[in-house]
Amino acid sequence: MAQILDGLKVSKEIKQEIQLEVEKITEAGKRPPHLAAILVGENGASKAYVNSKVKDCKEVGFVSSLIRFPDTVCEKELLAEITKLNDNEEVDGFIVQLPLPKGIDQEKIINAIDPKKDVDGFHPENFGRMALEMEAFLPATPYGIMTLLERHHIPTRGRHCVVVGRSRIVGRPMSILMSSKGNPGDATVTVVHSHTRNIEEYTRNADIVIVALGAPKYLKADMIKEGAVIIDVGITRVEDTGAKGYHLEGDVDYESCEPKAGWITPVPGGVGPMTRAMLMKNTLLAYKRFNK
Ligand code: GUN
Repeated sequence: MAQILDGLKVSKEIKQEIQLEVEKITEAGKRPPHLAAILVGENGASKAYVNSKVKDCKEVGFVSSLIRFPDTVCEKELLAEITKLNDNEEVDGFIVQLPLPKGIDQEKIINAIDPKKDVDGFHPENFGRMALEMEAFLPATPYGIMTLLERHHIPTRGRHCVVVGRSRIVGRPMSILMSSKGNPGDATVTVVHSHTRNIEEYTRNADIVIVALGAPKYLKADMIKEGAVIIDVGITRVEDTGAKGYHLEGDVDYESCEPKAGWITPVPGGVGPMTRAMLMKNTLLAYKRFNK
């Protein structure tokens, strides 16, 4: 039976550490950190994510602002709002919730964010700095996974890590962080994706498998090695007949993989809460950088 990589527990510890720091800041008579979020349209998952980010801010003692636009908003209006947030000295960091409606150039929007306030770590400057192993805002999900491994003392040095998926938000940055110098880090990394032949031949030889595909129950027991560390980034909304009308499903077939794995993340309660906690951490870092 696998041991659980408990994201809920670790995320609570991290939020508590942040909360303590915020208490010290406000006790010294300084303003608390401030995170702003831009939300465009009515996408249910995006609304839920942003609402939980606002809730997390409250929990750790941050100020938060939610700026909403209808999905008819034009690029120019969004860019004007980003300029305002870039210039607002009372805002330490902000995010633009993705995806954006069709017709809006996501790249142009992300590139307009001041890298010093880019707490999502999506700006090319932060991504490049991360790849060069310079100080940078790390994207919250990969940063959360690194922290989860660190706090469970999972060795990664010299281990073979297979990352399934090459997205800008998770797979690609994950592969960079795992192969970077450090602990966790120093792993031998293979990235597999939609054009990889026989993915299972790679995952079966992996000490650590990180799956970020958005394909429910994709990773089965016969695709992993006995004792492997299994990290599930998937959170697909699957419709059901329950009160909510949906439930969340991971990319890992937990039931079949759990008895064979050495360590495994549950869904929910694994990577998701870690992502949320690391956004708070990045906001605190953004604040501290300019309010020493
Ligand atoms: N959409 C899905 N994940 C994220 C995230 O981490 N940040 C933003 N801004 N949008 C997302």
